This record gives sequence, C-alpha cells and structure tokens, in this order.
Amino acid sequence: MMNALKICVFTVLVAAFYSYVSQMVPQKVTYPPEETELGADMTTEELVVAGEEIAGGKGTCLTCHTVSGDTGGRFPDLANIGLVAADRKEGFSDVEYLAESLYDPNEYIVEGFLPGMTPISDPPIDLNDEEILAVIAYLQSLGGVATVTLDTELRWQSEENSAAAAAASQAGAAAGPSAENLSGEELFAMYACGTCHSVTEPTPLLGPSLYNAGNDFSTAELYEAIMDPDAVVAEEFTAGLMSAQLNATGFYDKISSGQLKTLVDYLAMQKGGS
Ligand code: HEC
Ligand code: HEC
Repeated sequence: MMNALKICVFTVLVAAFYSYVSQMVPQKVTYPPEETELGADMTTEELVVAGEEIAGGKGTCLTCHTVSGDTGGRFPDLANIGLVAADRKEGFSDVEYLAESLYDPNEYIVEGFLPGMTPISDPPIDLNDEEILAVIAYLQSLGGVATVTLDTELRWQSEENSAAAAAASQAGAAAGPSAENLSGEELFAMYACGTCHSVTEPTPLLGPSLYNAGNDFSTAELYEAIMDPDAVVAEEFTAGLMSAQLNATGFYDKISSGQLKTLVDYLAMQKGGS
C-alpha cells in the first residue's frame, strides 16, 4: 500500500515536471537566422561590412572570440588577425589560412589554445561559401587589408556549399520531414553539443565531459543543465559560454519538448564511468 502511494506521488511529480518543462520550451517555432544579403557585384569594402554583420550574427563568432586586442582570454582575440594570418602557417597566404580556420578549424590549432571551434560551413552555423568569403574579407580588414571578392576561389569551396545550393536546400527543408524523429545522438550532433562535450572520453573539452552523465546527474539535473546552464556552473568552467552559444545558434527557439526529452534520455544513458 505504502509503495503504491509512493509510486503514485512519484508519477504526479514526474507529470508535473514534464508540464513545467514543456512550458519553459517554446512550442516548436523555427526562426530562420538573420540573413545578410550578398550581391554578386559587391566590392571588397562592402564585403567587409557584410562580413562583420555575419560574424556578429549568424556566424556566432563573437560568442567565443573578442575583437579588442585583449589577449589572454579562452579564445584567440581577432583584433590583429588580418596582420598575423599570413605568417601563421608555412606556405599559406593570409586568405588560405583564414579559409582553413573557418572550413577546417582543427587542421591547425593556434598555440596556447584548445580545439573547440566547429567547421563554420557545417550545421548548426552553416555559412555558405559566399558568406564565408565576406567573413574572410572582414577578418583581413582587422589589422590588414581586405582583398577577396565573391569571385575569389578557394579549394575548400564546393558546389554543395554555394549560396544557390543553400537556397535550394532551405526550400526543400521547409517541406521535408520534421526533426521530431531524430535520435538523441543525432540531436547532440545537430546542436553541436559535441564541440564542447565528449560523450566517449573523460577528457574535458570547452565544457565538462558527459561520458558518465547518467551516473553523475539525475534527469532533472540534466534538464536544468541544458535549459538554464548558468543556474549551476560546473567547477573550473566558465558560466555563460554554453548559454551564449546555444542562444546564438537558436537552440532554445528550435528545440521542442519532445526533442529535449530525447536529448536528456540520451545523456542519462551515458555511463562510461561505471
Ligand atoms: C565555440 C567557440 C567558437 C566559435 C563560435 C568560433 N570560434 Fe574561432 N576559434 C575558436 C577556438 C577555440 C580557436 C583556437 C583553436 C583553433 O585554432 O582552432 C579558434 C580559432 C580561430 C581563428 C584562428 C585565430 C588565430 O589567431 O590564428 C580564427 C581566424 C577564427 N577562430 C575565426 C572565427 C570566426 C570568423 C568565427 C565565426 C564564423 C569563429 N571563429 C567562431 C572557437 C570558436
Ligand atoms: C560553447 C560550448 C558549449 C556548448 C556548445 C554546449 N555546452 Fe554544455 N557546458 C559548457 C560549459 C562550459 C559547461 C560548464 C559550465 C556550466 O555548468 O554551465 C557546460 C555544462 C553542461 C552540462 C552540465 C555538466 C556538469 O558537469 O555540470 C550539461 C549536461 C551540458 N552542458 C549539456 C549540453 C548539451 C546537451 C549541449 C547541446 C545542446 C551543450 N551542453 C552545448 C559548454 C558548452
């Protein structure tokens, strides 16, 4: 009898908790990221301006990087990147180095920093080749002279990542299957949680390892860690980083309560430490 009562109370609490969580989560409205219009005939100067807008907006660059000349932060300061880019990597021009830092950030890790940047051409940031050229023009202009135009060819570019392909896939995605059926692992990848958290190794990245999350945290703690990352901040980690990144990529606008549950269940299954 006692047990049945306990189960009953527990069920009510769980139900209350789920309805609380689903109120916190906006109901599946997807806002398209702010688009910066790029015209084929834009001058390099115009690209610099557009690139700055993309870096502060859709590119989410400034959630991690500063452009202040203040070195010594967790991420490279970009105030002089236009000046130093040409000397960073043997045999690479400034444009090539900047392109590689965006398309393939882990090819070269800046001395004194940890890996932690996702390829900007892939989801969730997903800039197309033209947007990346604008960002490169902007980066060149920081301490140096911008030279690229929308005709500049880079070996990292591909037909699939052109503005035209992006427009076509957006049109397709609107009519495509909903993201509601994705697995926890797919959601973890889609929202780039893996940039900052490992689920296979105990090693911390920019955030703590989650390989033992199922033993370390209750389901409720996992919900809170995701929905309100700064409520409890893991020791030796910085508050604000995760929430800034998830806000910038529109995670809180896009995630539905069903997806959130799938994601939490996936983390609760990670018991690498036992
Ligand atoms: C999640 C955090 C994060 C975001 C978002 C991010 N970066 Fe980075 N970035 C890093 C880290 C960490 C490094 C240093 C490790 C490395 O070299 O990959 C880095 C390195 C760089 C470098 C090389 C700097 C140098 O001194 O050589 C450039 C250039 C750069 N990022 C530009 C950008 C731009 C432009 C964007 C947006 C389109 C961006 N980053 C978004 C974390 C981030
Ligand atoms: C830009 C890096 C970054 C991204 C992206 C990120 N996190 Fe985090 N996360 C952190 C940092 C830093 C902490 C530790 C500070 C804190 O507790 O807020 C953290 C803490 C956590 C914790 C609590 C862990 C502990 O040991 O206390 C969980 C759970 C978590 N993140 C899950 C996620 C999930 C799920 C995603 C993807 C939807 C995600 N994170 C995306 C950086 C990130």
